[in-house]
Amino acid sequence: MALLPILEYPDPRLKKVAAPVTSFTPDLVRLVRDMAETMYAAPGVGLAATQVDVHKRVIVIDVSETKDDLLVLVNPEIVAAEGEAECEEGCLSVPGYYDKVTRAARITVQARNERGEPIERTAEGLLAVCIQHEMDHLIGKMFVDYLSPLKRARLAARQRKKQRLAG
Ligand code: NI
Repeated sequence: MALLPILEYPDPRLKKVAAPVTSFTPDLVRLVRDMAETMYAAPGVGLAATQVDVHKRVIVIDVSETKDDLLVLVNPEIVAAEGEAECEEGCLSVPGYYDKVTRAARITVQARNERGEPIERTAEGLLAVCIQHEMDHLIGKMFVDYLSPLKRARLAARQRKKQRLAG
């Protein structure tokens, strides 16, 4: 297992669109394990392959308090969505920044796990938010893209300052 480096906003690689997984190989199982380890170590509740510069439709999520309920979604598709809910979100690719985003309150997602077995989950609350947030990463979209232009400009200035300080 290995910890993978996480790309930080506004890295242009975060805008890449991920390709569907076409074969379920030991490499995929290894990627999922490494992504889970990286997410738990961060610590975070979700991680998309895009964030570790792997452009495949793979997500890991664990919103449990005990951190023992890993959900692996390969090639996820939302097949039903209803309602609206506003939730404060953060992202491992935008460390230290949190803001409110409105998303569907309840969703049903179909996917496969890392062994290719089909999964269907209906989710609400934090899990629903997290699935939608991570699926956005797979199409090159980030939660900060939902913010007002003013807020995004402030965030861009903050990131530039941070990068200058980092040399
Ligand atoms: Ni994120």
